[in-house]
Order: sequence, then C-alpha cells, then structure tokens
Amino acid sequence: MAGIVDLIVAKRDGRQHTEAEIAWIVDNLAAIPDYQLSAWLMAVVCRGMSEDETTWLTDRMARSGEMLDLSGVPGPRVDKHSTGGVGDKVSLVLAPMVAACGATMAKLSGRGLGHTGGTIDKLESFAGFHADLAPEQFRDQLSDIRVAIASQSSRLAPADGRLYALRDVTGTVESAPLICASILSKKIAAGADVILLDVKTGAGAFMPTEEAAAELAGLMQRVGRRLGRNIVCVVSEMGQPLGRAVGNAIEVEEALETLSGRGPADLRELCLILGSLLLEAGGVEQDPERARERLERSLADGSALAKLGELIEAQGGDAGWLDDPTRLPHARASELLLARQGGFVQVIDARLVGAAAADLGAGRQQKGDPLDLSAGIVLLAKMGDRVEAGQPLARLLTGDPDRLPVALGRLEAAFQIGPSPVAPPALVKRVFKAQAAPETAPTRDHGDPWTALPGRQGLELPGNR
Ligand code: URA
Repeated sequence: MAGIVDLIVAKRDGRQHTEAEIAWIVDNLAAIPDYQLSAWLMAVVCRGMSEDETTWLTDRMARSGEMLDLSGVPGPRVDKHSTGGVGDKVSLVLAPMVAACGATMAKLSGRGLGHTGGTIDKLESFAGFHADLAPEQFRDQLSDIRVAIASQSSRLAPADGRLYALRDVTGTVESAPLICASILSKKIAAGADVILLDVKTGAGAFMPTEEAAAELAGLMQRVGRRLGRNIVCVVSEMGQPLGRAVGNAIEVEEALETLSGRGPADLRELCLILGSLLLEAGGVEQDPERARERLERSLADGSALAKLGELIEAQGGDAGWLDDPTRLPHARASELLLARQGGFVQVIDARLVGAAAADLGAGRQQKGDPLDLSAGIVLLAKMGDRVEAGQPLARLLTGDPDRLPVALGRLEAAFQIGPSPVAPPALVKRVFKAQAAPETAPTRDHGDPWTALPGRQGLELPGNR
C-alpha cells in the first residue's frame, strides 16, 4: 500500500484512488499529521473525486465509528442537514417542531464551518448543554422524547470530526465530494430512515450557483442510493442570510422567537416547507397541506417550543433560559452600520456577513479556537427594503470592542444599495423527491467517474418568502 505522500501526489496529479487507498486514509486519519491531511484535502478540492471514490469515502467515514441501529426507537425516524449557510438556524426550529408533530428527529449536527455557523455551537449558548452523546444515550433520548441533536464524536462518525475541523481552517470546504462524504457519513451513521438535505445556493453557500447546488444534490442522492439510503433534497436560497440574526446566542434567540409563533417570515416559511417534506416522507401526513397545518399548530400552541425545552434539559442545558432569553450570552460592545445613501437594498452578501460575524468572534480562525457566543450581527434591513441615508442597516455585537473596526468594514462591503426596487429571491428553488432505495447496500464497481449531472427529478417551486 502506498503511503500518504504517494496518495497526496496521486490526487494532486488527478489520479483516482482505489477503494483500498481510501479505506487506508480513513482508517489512518488519527496517525496522519495535520499538514499532510490538509495537503490531501486541498488536492481533493482541486482535482475532485469520482462518484465511486465519493461513495467509498462516505461509506468508510460512516463506518469509522458505530452505525446506530434505531430499530427499537418509535418511528418515523427522520434527519435533516444543511450544506451550510449564514443565519441558518433552521435545525433549532425544525427538530423540535417535527418531533412535536409525531416524527422522531435523530440528528447528528456539526459546528461552524468556514464562514457558516453550526448547530452545535449555537446550542452551546445554553449553559451546560452537551452534544457528545454516547450512542446508547442518543437512542434512549429518542425513545423518551423523540428528539436528540448530537455532535459526531469518538464513537459516532469520528472520521468526519477529524476532517471537518481541518477543513474549517484550511480553505478546503468547497468540494462536492468532501461535503457529500461529510454530511452523508453522519446521516448514515445516525441511522434515520428519512434523510432530508437542504442544499444551499447563493453567495453565502459553498455551492454559489443553482446548477452547482443541483449537482451536489444529485450526487448526494446517487451516493445515498448506492449506500442503501433514500434522500430528499431541497435547493434553497443563501444569497442573503436567513432571518436577521447571524451568530450563536442571537440565532438561538431568533429560533425561540420563531418557535413562539413570531420570528422572521423567511425562516418560518423554510421551516414549514422542510417540515412538511419530512412529515410527508415519514408517512406522518400524506397530504402536504395537512402537514403544514399540523406544523403551524405546533408553533401556535407552544408544543414545538416545549419540545425544545425537553431537548435542552435532556442534554444537560438550562431550559429555564427559554422563558428568559436575556440570560443567554449577551455582548459587551455593539455598533451600528449606517447606510451611506438612500435607496433599495439590492444585495446583502451572506458570505461577507458570515465572515464579518467570524471577525467579531462568532467563528473560528484556527482549529479549536473558543467562540464568543455573544458575538454576531443583527440585520436591520433585508433585500428589497427601502432605506434612507443614515438609517441603521445592521447591529454588530461582540465581547471584544477591538474586533469592531475590521468587522464593520467587511459588513459594509456586504450591502449594496441602489435606486431601483428588487424582489427578494425565491426561498426554495427546487425539490428532489426521494426515489426508491435499492434493496442491497453499497455497490463496489469501479470506473463511472462523477459526471456531475443535475438530478433529473427536480421540481420547480413558486417563489416565496
Ligand atoms: N455540513 C457538514 O456536515 N459538512 C460539510 O462539509 C458541509 C456542511
């Protein structure tokens, strides 16, 4: 077997790895130093992987830890994952909402990645909350309260933990095969029957164009099928941040607002669309309209918010904070970004907003950096809004005032204001429904390089906000 240097060189020169080589890399992740692993990741970003390589990598990463058997847990067992966005706090709302409606949400989540935020970091805004659940705790909690959100760990998809932390800080996130393997390895290890992937597109997404996002959705569906999993994919908007809050504790506050029946319209709408797809795919409701009504009821009657309380408490957090969000981490320093001119907000570049939030302390610059959970940005105007010169566009929050100038400069560049009105973009662009999964698990054929074909069953949806 070739060593890691040979494998880096092979990938750098555009050669395809064998299944045995991929297995060797995954099995030896703990022993390969960061600098060599980073070089290999960069070679994959630049040279890509075939669909076979991606399938082998996904499969091996899923099996790097325990594969959960949820057969004793009440169904339908569902899971959802986003490819990464800015202000994307959907999981904080969606997980308790679908659990309150009778599905079981068995979710393995990630931390912040590149300029995007992560569900686990956000949940750690609740003092005492822990996400490193042992597999048996995860299963028991699902049986008890129908919802659990765990991080990958030394027992669950550990290979993803090793690669994810490095990709976060080495510019090696934007790669369809690496994103596919990272997400699907967690989803497959976590054992849900229904998997919904929210593939983001736009400036703040890892796949900036709709075509690239559709290609990623198609790849994940095909790899999922080869590994015996049926996957529903949605391609959704991430040109501007979702909702108004970008950070950690402030995103939790916005999620609490939404679970209380208020919250920003785009966040609420996306949660209702994704929730309906999950309830439908899980067989809880056959009719999408009835599924939506049921989800709306869970927001109106407080059952979804109560479910979040059960989740926080079960995982060691202080659920009393749900009634009093002022107890969440609060920033010491703040500053307003003011509009230099009047007009209509044409663009809010989500990538720049995410990077500015990281400048304030909400994201990591180096592996293992602690986060300032209070840091972030609140958007006071969104795309299409009319603003006057001098009107506040955003509020910046941080525990460290020295961070404000750099973040302010970056955030200012995120906004474009012009004279003509613009319509906000459609929130959901396409839905790729699941196809019947094959009876057998992974195929082991060779060849068949990844041709990046868009999924063929994409459905256009009307715009919404
Ligand atoms: N979320 C993940 O878990 N992994 C990625 O690579 C991107 C988003």
